[in-house]
Amino acid sequence: MDKQQSIIRMFDEISPTYDKLNRVLSFGVDRRWRRRGCESALKIFGGKSAILIDAATGTGDLIAFWRKAAAKLGVTIDLAYGVDPSQNMLSVAATKPLNATLIKSEATAIPLPDGEADLLSISYGIRNVVEIDKALAEFYRLLKPNGVLLILEFMRVERKSLSGRFVSFYLKRVLPAIGRLISKDPRAYTYLPESIDDFLSAEELCEKLKSAGFEIAQVWDETFKISTRFIARKRQ
Ligand SMILES: C[S@@+](CC[C@H](N)C(=O)[O-])C[C@H]1O[C@@H](n2cnc3c(N)ncnc32)[C@H](O)[C@@H]1O
Repeated sequence: MDKQQSIIRMFDEISPTYDKLNRVLSFGVDRRWRRRGCESALKIFGGKSAILIDAATGTGDLIAFWRKAAAKLGVTIDLAYGVDPSQNMLSVAATKPLNATLIKSEATAIPLPDGEADLLSISYGIRNVVEIDKALAEFYRLLKPNGVLLILEFMRVERKSLSGRFVSFYLKRVLPAIGRLISKDPRAYTYLPESIDDFLSAEELCEKLKSAGFEIAQVWDETFKISTRFIARKRQ
């Protein structure tokens, strides 16, 4: 099985405990990262109604945050699509009141027309996409001119400071141990720190976004640089 398929298979395996583990492992802080991400993107978008595509939606968590942020800021989400290649993650999403159309697909070939979306998001998903450039080109195709892309991700960071070394210890030692206890698939939470170390730095992802045609509107580090938010716009 190729690398991409084995990543997707791993998410199929961990889907039953994914939501619970997310909250436990981040001490609930990921909620703040998600809320702030959606609110910042909506402010940058500036429109009053939107069509949303959430790629690598998994259990659909981010869609719920989009809906809350939109209600708070007076934006209507007319239509929401949640797209993910893992059937089991989508099956969990289907049990939630997301009011979204769920589509089984990788981020590199989403079966929706050009210019379908005003907002496109991918939270903690782009690191799992083997062909990143292809996914960024796909996001560009799917957005309307001036449409906004939100990426939340754990980027590769030089963790030399005291707080950085603490974060590294947590990600490499504590998190896999808790993950092994709760999740059915022990690989999953060893994969997380390894995939972060193998991933791009924030600067490298910005370069890729620019090469795909996006204008960077915001790059923001959260909580000791554990998570980074990227907001980019498709040029008109
Ligand atoms: C860490 S989860 C993130 C889920 C959700 N976005 C969230 O914030 O909780 C990563 C997701 O990426 C999906 N994924 C893996 N490979 C992918 C690909 N090539 N294209 C799109 N999604 C992919 C997995 O199935 C999984 O649901």
